[in-house]
Amino acid sequence: MASYSIHGDIIWTERIGEIRSVENGYLTVEDGKIASVSSSRPDTEIIETGHSLIIPGLSDLHLHAPQYAFCGLYMDEELLEWLNAHTFPEEAKYKDLVYADGAYSIFADDLRKSPTTRFSAFATIHTDSAILLMKKLESAGFSGFVGKVNMDRNSPDYLSETTEESVTETERFLHEAEQFMNVKASITPRFIPSCSEPLLKTLGDIRRRDALPLQSHLDENLSEVEWVKELCPWASSYAAAYCRFGMLGKSSVMAHCVWLDDSEIKLLSETGTYIAHAPSSNTNLSSGIAPVRKYIDAGCSVGLATDVAGGSSLSLFRIMSDAISVSKLRWRLVDEMEKPLTFREAFYLASKGGGSYFGKVGSFEAGYDADIVVLDGSPLSVLDSLAPEERLEQYVYRMAEAPVKAKFIKGRRVL
Ligand code: GUN
Ligand code: FE
Repeated sequence: MASYSIHGDIIWTERIGEIRSVENGYLTVEDGKIASVSSSRPDTEIIETGHSLIIPGLSDLHLHAPQYAFCGLYMDEELLEWLNAHTFPEEAKYKDLVYADGAYSIFADDLRKSPTTRFSAFATIHTDSAILLMKKLESAGFSGFVGKVNMDRNSPDYLSETTEESVTETERFLHEAEQFMNVKASITPRFIPSCSEPLLKTLGDIRRRDALPLQSHLDENLSEVEWVKELCPWASSYAAAYCRFGMLGKSSVMAHCVWLDDSEIKLLSETGTYIAHAPSSNTNLSSGIAPVRKYIDAGCSVGLATDVAGGSSLSLFRIMSDAISVSKLRWRLVDEMEKPLTFREAFYLASKGGGSYFGKVGSFEAGYDADIVVLDGSPLSVLDSLAPEERLEQYVYRMAEAPVKAKFIKGRRVL
């Protein structure tokens, strides 16, 4: 792949709370990787963006592709009621490949126009439509993970598998997913209430056998947490139950983690398990406010997530501003020891923090994958002397849903 440089106002973060920027700079890409950021014009092809803001691609650590169809609807219930009333009936439709084809085309196209370049996404229990989703995301130029969902208990008849079917279909999914270069398979037990213990054990064994990533939900909602206590009386905690089945580690991501106790924080930190913080979803479904500051201080790996359709926006800019907002409410109303997140910190979590789940992703350091997002960052106010960081902050708070101007993933232009 030839080398090229993108000219504009470049901004990124390498360490939490710190920001780097080069105004009027050149971001050089070689063979799909970041080569350098410089203020002098390099001897390469130049992609001119004027004074556009150039930021690293963002990572959505947890979302549900089939739920995009009802994104922004039905937010008056809590998790378990919401799943039964709205989510399961919609997901059942993906048995029909014609329906899945239409809905997943819209999802993939809208994701392409968003600032997201990487994701860990749930499909549904249906293997063929999960493969169709991978195909669409791969042809849209994405890299990331997709999982065929496993559900063999406490699920409605119209969206349930036997344990044996769930295992056989997972193996078929893994086999068919080998055709893709950039979108890879993830093991996806929905959550402990919908997976029997024999199924969890087998999925843990498959994951270890093939060294696969894994995604699930943990400690999202108080009724869910109580239910897991009843289902797993032998476990000292919800996280310990996943651990028993070999489901924690650096290649695992657990969504929400609103209600972790101290032993669970320690377990996630020690195992390097990623926490997908989904503040919009946690607000919409009245789940609570995750103590993200505590998790960061405890050394946990944290990234941000839309959790569409629990979250009502596909934009990680919206999630960044919600993460900041809810952290301020938590600080003011729950615990004055937990300092609110700053804009810089939220930008780190959305870029390099979550990006590290996928490798060298989410920064402009040399050797990182060239995931690049170009924004029309014209100042939105009469102030004409805003620094790139201020322009980005305004963009995040005020332009979250605007389509991005251009996007590159692993150096390939996708928009
Ligand atoms: N827990 C189990 N399934 C789901 C889901 O689809 N969305 C959310 N937010 N939580 C879940
Ligand atoms: Fe979710």
